[in-house]
Parts: sequence; C-alpha cells; structure tokens
Amino acid sequence: MNPFHNQSVVSIRDLGRDRLEAVFEATDRIRTMPPERRRELCRGRTLGYVFYEPSTRTRLSFEAAMSSLGGSSLGHADAASSSAKKGESLADTVRTISAYSDVVVLRHPLDGSSRFAAEVSSKPVINAGSGTEEHPTQALLDIYTIKKEKGRVDGLNIGIVGDLKHGRTVYSLLYGLSGYDVNVHLVSPPSLRIRPEFAYGTKRRMKMSTYGDLGECAGEMDVLYVTRIQRERFADAEEYAKVRGSYVVGLDMLRRMRPDSIIMHPLPRVDEIAPEVDSTPHARYFEQAEYGKHVRAALLHLLLNKDA
Ligand code: NCD
Repeated sequence: MNPFHNQSVVSIRDLGRDRLEAVFEATDRIRTMPPERRRELCRGRTLGYVFYEPSTRTRLSFEAAMSSLGGSSLGHADAASSSAKKGESLADTVRTISAYSDVVVLRHPLDGSSRFAAEVSSKPVINAGSGTEEHPTQALLDIYTIKKEKGRVDGLNIGIVGDLKHGRTVYSLLYGLSGYDVNVHLVSPPSLRIRPEFAYGTKRRMKMSTYGDLGECAGEMDVLYVTRIQRERFADAEEYAKVRGSYVVGLDMLRRMRPDSIIMHPLPRVDEIAPEVDSTPHARYFEQAEYGKHVRAALLHLLLNKDA
C-alpha cells in the first residue's frame, strides 16, 4: 500500500524528503502518461473544496488536476456563498463536504484550521493555505519546479525574498527544503523577517543567512523565490505602508544575477517583480504555476488509490 493513501496533508513537516521525492516521481509519471490512461486514475472520484480566502491558481489547479484524472470537483470558492455566512461552524461545513466527496481541500485564514479540519473530516484533508502557517502543496510544486528547471535541489543557493514574516508559502518551502543540502538566503526588510518559531524543531541540513538588501547576495543565487507583501495579514495599516514597495526585482537586479539563475514566485504578484522580467529567460513563475496542476494531480492520485 502506498503511504499517502487516505492520509491528510496538513503540514509539509509530516512528509520527509523520501515522501517528497515519491510525489515528484508520481508527478513525472502522470505528466508523461497518455491522457486516456490518466483519466482512469480517479474516475468517478470527487474532490470537495471550501476556500475562506481568495485563490486563483490553487483552486483552479486542483480542479484541473482532478478533471485530468477523470474525477470531478464540487465546493465553494467563496465562504460568503456557503452556510459559513449564516454562522455555520468550520467543523459542520467540513463534515458536510466530506460526506459528498473523497478528499477535501481547505483554505482558511486561521493557523491550525487545517489540522482541526482533518480531525473532524471523514475524508483526507489537503491544506491549501492555513493562515500564516503553511501551504504544503505550494511547497511541493515549488521544489518540483526547482528540480525540473535546475536539474537538482542539493547544492543550490536559494534566495527567498519578501514578506517572510507572514508568507505561509515561505514556511512550507523552508520546511520542505530542510531535507535537502541547500544554502538559503533570506532577504527582507527588518520588520518582515522570518518568525523565530521556524528555528524550533527543524532538523536542518540547509545553511541559512539573512540580509536586508537583495543586492548583497543577488550574484550568488541559483534560484530567487520572490513573495508578495501579505497586506491582509498586517495588524496595523501603518506598518504595511512602511514596507510597501520596499523591494522590486527588475532588469537592473537581473543584471547582477547569474545568467542561468531563475526567478520564481508563488503568485499572485503585486509589484515585487517588474513586468519586464516576464520575457527574460530567468522568469519561471508561470511554468511553476503550470507544474502545480501536475504535482496536485500526483498527490490526489496517491491519496485516493491504495496501489498508486
Ligand atoms: C499564496 C497563498 O495563498 O499563500 N498563493 C498561492 O496559493 N500561490 C501566496 C500569496 O497569496 O501571496
């Protein structure tokens, strides 16, 4: 039996490097499979979802992934159109969706929401973003993108720039990378540095260094992972105003980087990557979004099929 079968995916910390690599192998298999075979993998299965926060790529790529496997999706893209608006609890909403589906995908503004949902759900839950805490499937597709675009993960210099304090994709990515032998460069304004809790309980093979200015380390980077300032997570609007627009990756920055370095971003982007970067060979964020569909298809296949 495959170890993913019927298991919830709440935190990437629950998956070691071996499990990550198993998802990547399944992704390679599924991507190259003839579409008619792929459509047999989850035929007749249903993905249920509820998103209490906005989403474009995560929700649509899960739907596209399920459809490519021959399954279907149902759910709410907006909590305001669900009974949450009438005051229904998260527990009741999740119980109900899990009764109509084989796997439940949840995005919610609270840390811990996904772990709680997994406890009350009768079906496996996939965390599609829980507060500032984690977004494990984003990290899976991020590391898969690094592997495909750079040919390896071990030995790379990876810069993570932006809102390291509030960005859940950053935490999942760091936890995921902690099983690899990488040099991580964390770049942010002082008020948006990584939360100290990150240091607890992480078995780190990676080396980490911190910078206030991207220019200091740009020349060393193989991968630059840029993130948006998470405006909606600031307790104080003035604090946001102070850091807004404080870093932008533009053509001038690319000139300081290695010619074969790549730029990634979980998206949505606001103004932290200049649009002129899109047409350079460094830009990989749209490829990254596309890999997301295949990685999520692989994960659904593994969760839903005992013998996958
Ligand atoms: C991210 C998220 O929701 O955390 N979006 C995504 O799923 N790619 C990143 C963000 O909102 O900045």
